[in-house]
Order: sequence, then C-alpha cells, then structure tokens
Amino acid sequence: MPSVDAATPRGTGNLRELLRALPVFPATLPTFAPEQAPDDPVALFTEWLLDAVRAGVPEPHAMTLATADAAGDPSARVLICKDVDADGWQFASHAGSRKGRELAARPSAALTFYWQPLGRQVRVRGPVTRADAERAAEDFRARSVGARAETLVGRQSRPLGHPDEIEAAVRAQARRLRDEPNLVPPEWTVYTVRALEVEFWQADRDRRHLRLAYRREAPESPWTRQLLWP
Ligand SMILES: Cc1cc2nc3c(=O)[nH]c(=O)nc-3n(C[C@H](O)[C@H](O)[C@H](O)COP(=O)(O)O)c2cc1C
Repeated sequence: MPSVDAATPRGTGNLRELLRALPVFPATLPTFAPEQAPDDPVALFTEWLLDAVRAGVPEPHAMTLATADAAGDPSARVLICKDVDADGWQFASHAGSRKGRELAARPSAALTFYWQPLGRQVRVRGPVTRADAERAAEDFRARSVGARAETLVGRQSRPLGHPDEIEAAVRAQARRLRDEPNLVPPEWTVYTVRALEVEFWQADRDRRHLRLAYRREAPESPWTRQLLWP
C-alpha cells in the first residue's frame, strides 16, 4: 500500500493509489439469513442496531440524512437517530436550518446507517412528518445545557462572521436559560421518517453481498420483501 506521507494533500496521483489500496470490510463478518428475517423491518433494524452496540461500533446511532430542496437538488449531513418505533425513524433539529427549510419545501428524506465492523448498511426512505410541540419540548429538555444554549441561538446553517461570535451568543443564551430553565425554542423540531422502503445490506468477503429490501405503498400498508442483486 502506498504510504500516507507519499500522498501529499495536493498530489492527487498518489492519493488515488492510496485510496485504491485501502481495504474495505473487516476480515470476519456476521452471517445474515434473509429468509429468517422478521416481517417488520423495524424489528430487524432494532436487531442490527443492538448488534452494532454490542460490537462496540462508535456512534452506532449516527446516520446520514439526505434531503432535497424545492428544485430537487440534494444535500446530506450526519445526525443522531433519537428513536425508532412503529411510526418510523426520529431525529431532531432546528426548523430554520438548511435541512429544516428543505423538509418544509419537500417533506421527504433518505437515511443511511453504516456499521463498518459488521459490514452492514441500512437505507431508509419515506415521507417526513413533524412531531407535536410536546414531543419536541421533551426532546429539547433532555439535552445538556450547552446543547440547549447553542440551539437557542437559532442560527444553524446561517453565515458566520467569526468563530468568536459563537461563544458570546451561546453565553447569552445560557444566561437566558438560567432565568427560564423551561425555555424551548418553537423551531426545535422532532421529525419522523415514515419509511416506505428499508433496505438491509450485509457485506460478504466473497462479494456475495446480501440485500433485503422491504417496501410498502403507504405508511399504513403491509410490508413486502424482496432480495436485490448486490
Ligand atoms: C455525529 C454527528 C451528530 C450530529 N447530530 C446532529 C443532530 O442530532 N441534529 C442536528 O441538527 N445536527 C447534528 N449534527 C450536525 C449536522 O451534521 C449538520 O452540520 C447541521 O445539522 C446543519 O445541517 P444543515 O445545514 O444541512 O441543516 C451532527 C453532526 C455529527 C457529525
């Protein structure tokens, strides 16, 4: 494998070789028997998430959220998954952020989880709904004072003049929180991806990767299952 030092930040040739030589997937991988998978993808997702926790995967609840703006142009970022239940996959964010504005224009999203030590990927896709204010308040109050103060600043995704401005703005909001500890910004929102598609992908050393896709017509419809070519 070419050395990391040989791949200078501007030397794209060496970087290309380095990337080509990097390994993908661990030497030992778990088995997956799609025919034994449960009828409900939330049950299988929970099994896989717990496997990831048990395997010590760092931040197994981190997921990539993809949204699109009104013109259909996509953007993606990593978020924390707050809960998964019969309604779907939940995350929380500021409604005024880029993702919040995109979800207001186009309430539909895709999520991707990748648990590298297990060679497993899960993809979720569907319409997005906003939970009620009570659920958002409950989520907000469970956050640390620092995280709450930062959110109260309310400028996520807006242009920032200088990093020093953050400290002063967060400190001012922390003071506000001391006076009004139950403060919840109306923009703090818990979103739920009401999945219409959930795909489970298990890597295989011999490249016989397994893909099991669950699909349904509408959030209340029954799930159907289908294997996909890797
Ligand atoms: C591991 C990790 C977890 C994150 N969790 C959240 C989160 O739960 N909510 C959130 O709004 N941003 C979270 N972020 C920051 C987002 O990736 C993103 O920078 C921010 O939400 C602004 O995105 P936007 O401009 O597309 O709206 C997290 C970032 C990382 C790397």
